[in-house]
Amino acid sequence: MKSWIEEQGWGHAVEAGLYPPIAISKKKGFEELTKEYRFKNKTVLDHGCGTGVFGALLKKRGAQVTGLDISKRLLKVAATRIKVVQGSAYRLPFKDAKFDFVLSLMVLHVLTRPEQATKEIRRVLKPKGTLLLAIVNPRAGAWDVKKKTIKKDSKYGKVAQRKWVFNLTDGTAFAATYTHRPLSFWMRALKGFSVRCVYEPILPARYPKGKYAQKEFLFLALEKE
Ligand SMILES: C[S@@+](CC[C@H](N)C(=O)[O-])C[C@H]1O[C@@H](n2cnc3c(N)ncnc32)[C@H](O)[C@@H]1O
Repeated sequence: MKSWIEEQGWGHAVEAGLYPPIAISKKKGFEELTKEYRFKNKTVLDHGCGTGVFGALLKKRGAQVTGLDISKRLLKVAATRIKVVQGSAYRLPFKDAKFDFVLSLMVLHVLTRPEQATKEIRRVLKPKGTLLLAIVNPRAGAWDVKKKTIKKDSKYGKVAQRKWVFNLTDGTAFAATYTHRPLSFWMRALKGFSVRCVYEPILPARYPKGKYAQKEFLFLALEKE
């Protein structure tokens, strides 16, 4: 079975080093989400770790990080940074209550059954464990690269596959897909967690020259009830 990342055409981009550096808003959101927590000697699952860049940042802060991803190709890169395990978000290959933290950045919205994945995350978290989450903001505006403005979302309530164009550093681009779902869906899928922090960076209305296309993200810190 081809992994999502290969179907989406990311594999070659990551291997060739063409994938843009960590999007600024994602890095800021990550810092905002994690600043209240101490990670020294804490167990962290980097859920859908991709190349493991974010897990590696927590490892630097003293955490014992395990990265989990479906893509062998990406795990090869991640393994240079953190300990990795290949597996599915729908059936995490870990025992119950193993982790103090689950870091899940930009993963749930690419899954067809995110509500199954959140159940699994809850299972592997310790009681009062913390889920640090980022998804495409369901209310997201996105920069329209051609018009250089922000697009308004007139189909907010509709669950639908959407395209997201990634510009690579060599000037080429490819479109990846994700599934838009309204906020009410996500709140249902996160039953059993209480919200500790919401961070919702809003993009400037005009597309800055030389920047990569980005979407607005929603960052949440949640505690397992
Ligand atoms: C948008 S990338 C985010 C990567 C990383 N968290 C980051 O922020 O850089 C989504 C990741 O989810 C992984 N993924 C997709 N479907 C998955 C599944 N069913 N089980 C585990 N990982 C999956 C992909 O391989 C990819 O690495």
